[in-house]
Amino acid sequence: MNASGPLCTFENELESLGQSESGAIVLKSTTMEPRTGNERPKYYENEHGSINSNGLENLGYQKYCELIPKLKQFGKPIIPSVCGFSLSEFETMVKAFDKAGADVIEINLSCPNIIGKPQVAYDFEQSEKYLSAIRSVTDKPLWVKLPPYFELIHRQEMAKLLLKNKMDGATLINSVGNSIIVDPEKGQAVIKPKQGLGGLGGHYVKPIALGNVWTFYNELKGKIPIIGAGGVYSGKDAFEFFLCGAEMVQIGTAYKHEGPGIFSRIKKELDAFLSLKKYSSINDVIGKLKVVEGEEYGFTA
Ligand code: DHB
Repeated sequence: MNASGPLCTFENELESLGQSESGAIVLKSTTMEPRTGNERPKYYENEHGSINSNGLENLGYQKYCELIPKLKQFGKPIIPSVCGFSLSEFETMVKAFDKAGADVIEINLSCPNIIGKPQVAYDFEQSEKYLSAIRSVTDKPLWVKLPPYFELIHRQEMAKLLLKNKMDGATLINSVGNSIIVDPEKGQAVIKPKQGLGGLGGHYVKPIALGNVWTFYNELKGKIPIIGAGGVYSGKDAFEFFLCGAEMVQIGTAYKHEGPGIFSRIKKELDAFLSLKKYSSINDVIGKLKVVEGEEYGFTA
């Protein structure tokens, strides 16, 4: 499926996702009011990935609630992503999406691009408060969109919170926040907001995403599914996420680059790779990453 972020803000983009082979329609993170987001240029991509500081450009949650019944015609799960500026805003939007018929609600605790609003997910006390309160306002499946964690203890602590508060999915990872890409010719940052700082995605972040998926997989022990995100451009990339324990993947940077045709391409590539490697089902892959046992990594160039 698509990752919340690129090409999922406007009605025509959501319809294109409906017509594509994406397994679900994931909506751009919503706020209470419509927003035009940060100043342009706020997105840049190169062959290694992307950087963005979109600033939560979206139509406001009420518009997306109205769109949900229409989007249901495509017969696939509709997954709004909610990004409040306070707990009560999260509660209001989650209740509204529940009522509007969302199939899953993704709680985004990891937007890196709003000045003066640190990511909730880096504050474990606040995260606990948010997750338990949000859990009590809906019976719909709740996925939590998390930022990359770099210390194992943080991954372990967050995994405990997800289990304790009965979350139904962990989306790993959001972009690597407050990064910078420099254009050396011009001697300037490639995007304008936040003095050039933005969230990194694409190939740049795949090893970080896989490390997070693998640790969370081992902590969650299959009790909560993982949705992998960060650098999926090909069927083999998706396969790597499944090996590390993801059950689903989301596609952001590569979807923005290639458009909605990417979902059928990646499915075909994945099927071909699974046949080549003689796996009969994706269930034989999930979490089956092998660790090196000999003295050398067995790779011959
Ligand atoms: C935006 C970026 C994110 O990584 C996110 O999780 C939510 C919003 C943004 O800048 O719009």
